[in-house]
Amino acid sequence: MHLMAILPSKIVDMRHAGSNTVLLVVALTAFLSLLRSPHEPASKYTSLLDNIWRVGKLGSNVSARVSLPHSFNAIDGQRGGPYARAPHVYSAEIHVPRDGRVHILDCGAASMAAEFIVNGVSIGSHRGGFSRFRFDATNAIRDGTNSLQVIVDNSVNLTDILPRSGDFTVFGGLFRDLGVISIRRNTPVLHPFDLASPAVKIMQTNAISRELLELAQFNTSILLSCFGKLEVQKVTLQIQITDHKSHKVAYKTLSVNMNTDCATPTKTWIPFTIQKPRLWDGRVDPYMYFARLSVIYQNIVVDTYSARLGVRTYFLDSEQGFYLNGREYPLDGVNLHQDWQDKGWGISANHTRRNFEIMDELNMTALRCAHYQHSDYTYRLADHYGFVVWAEIPNLDLSPRDHALHANAATQLRELIRQSYNHPAIVFWSVANELGGDVDNDPVSLVQELHTIAKEEDPYRYTVIAISPRKNLSDPLPQSVDAVAINAYHGWYTWFGPHPNNTGPDMDRYHATSPQTPFGIAEFGAGSSIHFHSENPVRMDHTEEYQSWLHEQTWAQLRARRWIWWKTVWNFADFASDKKAEGDTGGRNDKGLVTYDRSVRKDAFYYYKAIWNSEPFVHLCSGRFFVRETKVIAVKAYAAGVRFLVLYVNGAQVAEPMALREDRIHVWDGVVLAEGQNYVEVLTNDEAVFSRVTWTYYDSNRLEIPSSLSLQN
Ligand SMILES: *[C@@H]1O[C@H](CO)[C@@H](O)[C@H](O)[C@H]1NC(C)=O
Ligand SMILES: *[C@@H]1O[C@H](CO)[C@@H](O)[C@H](O)[C@H]1NC(C)=O
Ligand SMILES: *[C@@H]1O[C@H](CO)[C@@H](O)[C@H](O)[C@H]1NC(C)=O
Ligand SMILES: *[C@@H]1O[C@H](CO)[C@@H](O)[C@H](O)[C@H]1NC(C)=O
Ligand SMILES: *[C@@H]1O[C@H](CO)[C@@H](O)[C@H](O)[C@H]1NC(C)=O
Ligand SMILES: *[C@@H]1O[C@H](CO)[C@@H](O)[C@H](O)[C@H]1NC(C)=O
Ligand SMILES: *[C@@H]1O[C@H](CO)[C@@H](O)[C@H](O)[C@H]1NC(C)=O
Repeated sequence: MHLMAILPSKIVDMRHAGSNTVLLVVALTAFLSLLRSPHEPASKYTSLLDNIWRVGKLGSNVSARVSLPHSFNAIDGQRGGPYARAPHVYSAEIHVPRDGRVHILDCGAASMAAEFIVNGVSIGSHRGGFSRFRFDATNAIRDGTNSLQVIVDNSVNLTDILPRSGDFTVFGGLFRDLGVISIRRNTPVLHPFDLASPAVKIMQTNAISRELLELAQFNTSILLSCFGKLEVQKVTLQIQITDHKSHKVAYKTLSVNMNTDCATPTKTWIPFTIQKPRLWDGRVDPYMYFARLSVIYQNIVVDTYSARLGVRTYFLDSEQGFYLNGREYPLDGVNLHQDWQDKGWGISANHTRRNFEIMDELNMTALRCAHYQHSDYTYRLADHYGFVVWAEIPNLDLSPRDHALHANAATQLRELIRQSYNHPAIVFWSVANELGGDVDNDPVSLVQELHTIAKEEDPYRYTVIAISPRKNLSDPLPQSVDAVAINAYHGWYTWFGPHPNNTGPDMDRYHATSPQTPFGIAEFGAGSSIHFHSENPVRMDHTEEYQSWLHEQTWAQLRARRWIWWKTVWNFADFASDKKAEGDTGGRNDKGLVTYDRSVRKDAFYYYKAIWNSEPFVHLCSGRFFVRETKVIAVKAYAAGVRFLVLYVNGAQVAEPMALREDRIHVWDGVVLAEGQNYVEVLTNDEAVFSRVTWTYYDSNRLEIPSSLSLQN
């Protein structure tokens, strides 16, 4: 297999990324020598992940020892049928010195609602399963050992929290980071309670542009606060941008006066520019500078925030598609869900890295982080690998006229944007997916409200939604955002039409209803099992052969339409959808290009690898179709980066060498198999790359298939 698990040296395992306190430590070590002012960080971070944790259902006296990150319904949530949707209690003893500091519990995410209880005292609750949140625990904490209980609830009856529905399992648990931020009093710090964001937005104000940049313009918004009171008002902020050789490319300082009584946070801005920047150029060169903001008080650096900084321009044209840095740059890639076999949402940084290594092999350009806020580490890896990201809130399907639910959507959107602002990969904020138009639903006003909020939080990126095909583009719903993409399952779900080749004509029809609206495709695909195979694949049979064929047919239509600004396959990997009963496993949506445990790349994976890559490789399809009952078959291979392909069956060359095809699909018809085992291989003419399979042919009219060789292997 092509499992070159090369970890880029620039990547650091930072599960707590997004928490400025962790970055503080990194920044301090790296830059200590560069700074004139001494450092006395006012805040420190202590992870609670490695404490001894137990979890049990609320009200039950049974609990189990678990390690975080964790989903309490990882197994029942992936096997079909009912799964746990009920409040659970995570508990641990935590040791916090009562040292006069302010102690803040910092949680990377808890699905869907969480209440934190310290020594029996509730210190706060959060509603929303995917965003970071923090509570001040100072008053509840005793010196030494404290009991911490977290009630995590993913009940169906939480009707005021998104998502209300969706074709995926709503896992519950504490599935990201968790820790304590301890802050010295009477000292200015970056505000810890700005929706648990870094409280720093480094905004490139000329990012939306069709041009290549000569001069990058930035404005940094900063929110400062303090606990207790300040001796002096004056605080100095210093922002410094350096390149990979530690050369300064921008440097600014600013003095601000804070309220000495620490009653309200202080907001301020630092503009700066970068001349002739080296650009964050997607897959070609995802270059990033280092940005560091220091808070200096009485000549001491008391807080810092560090981030990678990418400079780029982007532009959407409804006829020419997407532009990155002044040139057309097709956005082609996959959708990603965060769950993983036997883990639910409780994945480690290793799992996230694995996803990216496989996506890197695909050489895609675009990533939709569906259908909710993903970990900060996910966006960080997207920055690093140069994938343009569509980030999204879990506003799916249903949209009842419910004020509490709308308010929750608004909060989740503000959290997503503030917490993820500084990622150069993110270009699109998605405010909804497939919102229905039933009588009881009011998607238009909600989407308009969310668009307004997104622009308020971030005027320098685009808003988007994914729609189901019920809407034409001149409808108020698609007109409420900057750009639209359709979820279209032609050739899979019957209501889209039986054949994938209707995808293109249907998209033309929609495009014509509003030619000035940028129109893309956010989802398309078919389910498949690596165990199901057929010589004559048909819709819904879940064979790898049908999935590959559907993607070949669909992609041919999409690539022919330059104006389609976004094309993402549904889905990168198989994922849990507990209500589903299809394919080889109940509770599984098997539309992945790779399996749920990421161990097997399906044939369709290699189709896209062949399309998106120019490096030499070849892949023989149907390699797992071990037992054939047809004597004369068609053999198919996907390939890229080679000149000719030669097919051998049992050592004999089958035809003249076949030249590499532009559509990357190479088919040899009328290949005759011998009775018993057949060794089939495709080589390049210089034999530098090859792909081999072994198929066993039995004439089922004459012979019984040995039971040791079942089709389902
Ligand atoms: C736990 O609950 C069960 C049944 O509700 C009960 O029989 C048992 O005594 C309880 N155990 C403890 C230690 O409370
Ligand atoms: C919601 O459901 C949970 C069980 O999942 C139950 O404990 C709780 O009481 C319910 N709340 C309401 C308000 O019905
Ligand atoms: C930065 O943002 C602030 C607040 O919106 C604004 O007053 C200021 O003019 C901006 N500066 C630049 C250079 O854009
Ligand atoms: C992550 O991978 C590293 C290196 O392969 C390994 O040492 C570590 O145990 C893994 N951690 C987890 C949580 O799987
Ligand atoms: C679509 O596929 C069907 C069935 O193979 C075929 O009859 C039809 O001509 C195709 N249409 C186009 C536009 O390719
Ligand atoms: C689009 O849909 C709206 C209402 O759903 C309708 O009023 C309008 O006529 C449609 N436009 C086109 C071009 O079909
Ligand atoms: C990967 O994709 C980028 C962007 O389309 C392209 O420039 C690059 O050549 C591709 N890399 C390989 C190895 O094909």
